[in-house]
Amino acid sequence: MEYLVKSGSPEKQRVGCVIVGIFDRRKPSMQAEALDEASNGLIASVMRRGDMDGKLGETTLLHGLEDMFCDRILLVGCGKERDFNQRSYRKACTAAARELDTMGGVDAAFYLTELNVKGRDDFGWSVKQALLALEDVFYRFEACRGTSYEKQTRKLSRLILQVPRRSDLPTAEKGVAEGVATANGIKLAKDLGNLPGNICTPTYLAEQAVELANHHDSVKTQILEEADMEALGMGALLGVSRGSRQPAKFIVMEYMNGPRGEKPTVLVGKGVTFDAGGISLKPGAAMDEMKYDMGGAASVFGAMQAAVELELPINLVAVIASTENLPDGDAYKPGDILTSMSGQTIEILNTDAEGRLALADALTYVERNYQPDAVVDMATLTGACVVALGSEAAGLFANNSPLRRALRDAGELVGDRAWPMPLWEEYQSQLDSNFADMANVGGKGAGAITAASFLHRFARKLRWAHLDIAGVAWKSGKDKGATGRPVGLLTQYLIDRSTQA
Ligand code: BES
Ligand code: MN
Ligand code: ZN
Repeated sequence: MEYLVKSGSPEKQRVGCVIVGIFDRRKPSMQAEALDEASNGLIASVMRRGDMDGKLGETTLLHGLEDMFCDRILLVGCGKERDFNQRSYRKACTAAARELDTMGGVDAAFYLTELNVKGRDDFGWSVKQALLALEDVFYRFEACRGTSYEKQTRKLSRLILQVPRRSDLPTAEKGVAEGVATANGIKLAKDLGNLPGNICTPTYLAEQAVELANHHDSVKTQILEEADMEALGMGALLGVSRGSRQPAKFIVMEYMNGPRGEKPTVLVGKGVTFDAGGISLKPGAAMDEMKYDMGGAASVFGAMQAAVELELPINLVAVIASTENLPDGDAYKPGDILTSMSGQTIEILNTDAEGRLALADALTYVERNYQPDAVVDMATLTGACVVALGSEAAGLFANNSPLRRALRDAGELVGDRAWPMPLWEEYQSQLDSNFADMANVGGKGAGAITAASFLHRFARKLRWAHLDIAGVAWKSGKDKGATGRPVGLLTQYLIDRSTQA
């Protein structure tokens, strides 16, 4: 899809479709008003007949227009005008996108971007949010269909995002640039997440990292093999990997585009390409969904790619600990004690708590090899986090308040939320072990917090945050699939960092 920004009146657009908002009840937006006038009251009569009341998310497509420059008009319900906020704006954009997805025209002029959104006065934001909402709807995963599968082709190929004044164009352009880069990152994360475990293996993820470096001179990739991990003493990650025939990969990508010598931001992703639970085998129901257990890694890839595409002037390092978790005869077992790279020993009480083991060594690796300014890890870490926050927000844990704040604000701004959870020392005793420095599970209660508290033991020297994305990285049910979250949050965080410095 080609996205352009322009300013100009809706009744003068020679396009396949003009998209305008209607507020509840039957209150045309300024842009709808202009079209109504030019069409001798067409919109008013559609409303009078009861086909469009302006309820949030409602849509009506008008055809067969007479004496108009555009072929169609799409009316989009925006709800009550005085309640028109970020949430309703996104919802209206998504509703419009569903129509545009199947509509016949090749181009369209989008005017919802001109509406005043409560609490926002920046058309760059509106443009970017519209673009993200549209791309989310337009996404399809078709990589694994057979030869006789007929791909659906969208007719629409050019979308003009409208802003009220010419003076709004520069900020709108910036919104498009950020939106396109973010949407591309989200698409990458969705594609990786949707790929099945037999294709998306640790080796496949490593190849993606090499690919990224091949495409961009600014990216350097290094892949550590199991022998390298052995030499570094990554006993926790290698413990998990023993149950799998696929070799584990430790992936490091560097994008050092910031001031020389400036400490890097480090992103760390859990890349478990399939989690059967290991010897503590998971139940069979919905086990297929554990192919998404590399959602953290996928979002690290997405954010990295977005930062590179935007040429952000930052120093950024991405690290992915990738393995499968399977129950081979040589697999690690409950009761086993592993020695992590940090030297701390871990008693395994449940082999299904594998993500924290992989991340523990990754955190030690980044502490030893970089002097990070901040480290943010992403992981589909616990079912308990899904219980706590559902799919609205990722669990946000941090040992540093400004970092927590920055991540939370970034998520809020782009509609990819994370919500603070405690990391109090009181929880640490749940990880006590009779045989090793710690156990890998914390027993009953506070499962998301004890998992984060486990990671905290490997991040004491870092300014560190952890996002438990188990509830947000994918959707179950009819619309089963990867969401690309939290690429939006991460990319916004990186953009914010690059401008604040
Ligand atoms: N990958 C899972 C967490 C998960 C569960 C993600 C459901 C998405 C949906 C993780 O490796 C895991 O198995 N965690 C265990 C931890 C437990 C054994 C302490 C869990 O949450 O059940
Ligand atoms: Mn598990
Ligand atoms: Zn897992």
